[in-house]
Amino acid sequence: MQETQRLAVELPGLSLKNPIIAASGTCGYGQEAAKKYNLNHLGSLVLKSTTLHPRQGNPRPRVCETSAGWLNANGLQNVGITVATNEKIPWLRKNYPQLPIIASAAGFSEDEYVKVVSEFANTAGVKAIELNVSCPNVKHGGMAMGTDPEVLQRLVKQVVKAARGIPIYVK
Ligand SMILES: Cc1cc2nc3c(=O)[nH]c(=O)nc-3n(C[C@H](O)[C@H](O)[C@H](O)COP(=O)(O)O)c2cc1C
Repeated sequence: MQETQRLAVELPGLSLKNPIIAASGTCGYGQEAAKKYNLNHLGSLVLKSTTLHPRQGNPRPRVCETSAGWLNANGLQNVGITVATNEKIPWLRKNYPQLPIIASAAGFSEDEYVKVVSEFANTAGVKAIELNVSCPNVKHGGMAMGTDPEVLQRLVKQVVKAARGIPIYVK
């Protein structure tokens, strides 16, 4: 068996040539990382979590070295769904047509997630959508979406509908 086939993995609704996936946010939307690394070596790239509107993120410094590694609190800085779908994803598709893109949706209400997922699902090149459910739910006291099973179940149901067949992975 060829090395490339041996490393191939099947995820629900998604075939990757290897299991190396850049975690959400660690490579932004790929443009900066592409200056240092050949993105074609990746199995997939999860994009920066994207909200309906652009966000500046937290004031700097946002990262702090610790004895065990580092802590970061970036505050979900991102370009917003319009720039992500009109500029960032088309750039990746043009330059890395073989790279399966996993988009990452974030939001501060269920409605916002549904809108963001719906836009991603409409964008050519998006092979799966990750749901970042660590965002605070502003309508429910600011607790992270993923901490309340009922909220999470409702959210996932709505989002799966909005994704129209594109696989949803909950993070
Ligand atoms: C600079 C930076 C930005 C990140 N941005 C996001 C993000 O936008 N969405 C998300 O779900 N996770 C984000 N993360 C978390 C990573 O995706 C990952 O879950 C985290 O680094 C833990 O993985 P590790 O234990 O392998 O470091 C970010 C992490 C870093 C270091």
